[in-house]
Amino acid sequence: MDGQTFRTVLGQWPSGVCVVTTTGPQGVHGMTASSFSSVSLDPPLVSVCLGNHLPSRALLGEAGKFAISFLGKDQAHIGRRFAGQVPEITDRFAGLDWATTPNGCPVLADAVAWLDCRVAHAYPGGDHTIFVGEVTEAATPRLISPLLFHSRNWGQVADPLPASVQLTVDLPAGHPLADDLRRGGARVRTDGRCFEFVTDGPAGLPSPERVVAAKRAGHTVVGYVTDAFDPRREDEVLATVSALNALGCDEIGCAESELTPASPLQVRRVLQDAVVRVRPATPRVRLSGSNRLALVNALVAMKSGVSHFDVVAPGAGRAGLPLDDLLHLSRQLEVAGPDLAQLRE
Ligand SMILES: Cc1cc2nc3c(=O)[nH]c(=O)nc-3n(C[C@H](O)[C@H](O)[C@H](O)COP(=O)(O)O)c2cc1C
Repeated sequence: MDGQTFRTVLGQWPSGVCVVTTTGPQGVHGMTASSFSSVSLDPPLVSVCLGNHLPSRALLGEAGKFAISFLGKDQAHIGRRFAGQVPEITDRFAGLDWATTPNGCPVLADAVAWLDCRVAHAYPGGDHTIFVGEVTEAATPRLISPLLFHSRNWGQVADPLPASVQLTVDLPAGHPLADDLRRGGARVRTDGRCFEFVTDGPAGLPSPERVVAAKRAGHTVVGYVTDAFDPRREDEVLATVSALNALGCDEIGCAESELTPASPLQVRRVLQDAVVRVRPATPRVRLSGSNRLALVNALVAMKSGVSHFDVVAPGAGRAGLPLDDLLHLSRQLEVAGPDLAQLRE
């Protein structure tokens, strides 16, 4: 097998990207790596393969310790820099925000996650060395969507459409569609099986005791962030989503303002990072019905990993994304939705 074919084949394997750092008498050193892999949970072990010819390999072997910083979708420039692809940058660490791990290795302060490791084994791996590190400390400073590398290109996760959509429908009690909706698998908002609240920031959340009590009573706990797609509120919205997750919400929603229409780009930006923070809870979205791009935003939300939408029934006289519009969209996209006899007729 010729080397070129081998490289082309390896390029078809997508990976995340990290920066491996170490420190020693010569100071700090770091390089980009995609050969990171998890190895063992107990004891906690990870591995990374470094080319034997690289200064990084020698330094890491001598230091006996290293740290790994996982790069986020907006950090391809850091990946390039630590791969030596930006020749004008001589100090790879310059101008970036670094923290120091307990082992004394530098980690990116805004990495998606980092691991602090002590070299447990160094195995020969052809022209590379396989370093196995015992993880002594780990953190997730900035949970956002990861940076990817595939076919010699930097990329991001392009989420597929969901297999199905789940709907929570706003309609007045006694509405003729209610039974059909329930039979079709949709949730009727007025049924009151949820403890639902809205907040515009991490302050003003219900107490943890209130949430525990609601769960004990068999309610699904749903926390909503209002005005979630205002570009000026991005950091606050993501912090609020994290706070709702820490509070133990079963479902965490992002609601569009009825006054300021959200752009599809902003919906994508917010949801891509919010969904990472919401899981394993369920991400939800409540879009405005008056936004002319409402269905585009619904599609963007689906592509960002959201399958749970709040909609309003026809004639319900409420603001929000109309039920029949969302059903129409999901049918066009061949995404399964509730089967509603009355709406089919
Ligand atoms: C996306 C990407 C992934 C890489 N992964 C690895 C890797 O896993 N192991 C390795 O030895 N080199 C890898 N490299 C190459 C090193 O980053 C590059 O050779 C770097 O300059 C090494 O730093 P040093 O010369 O200071 O030791 C990768 C490069 C890129 C762009």
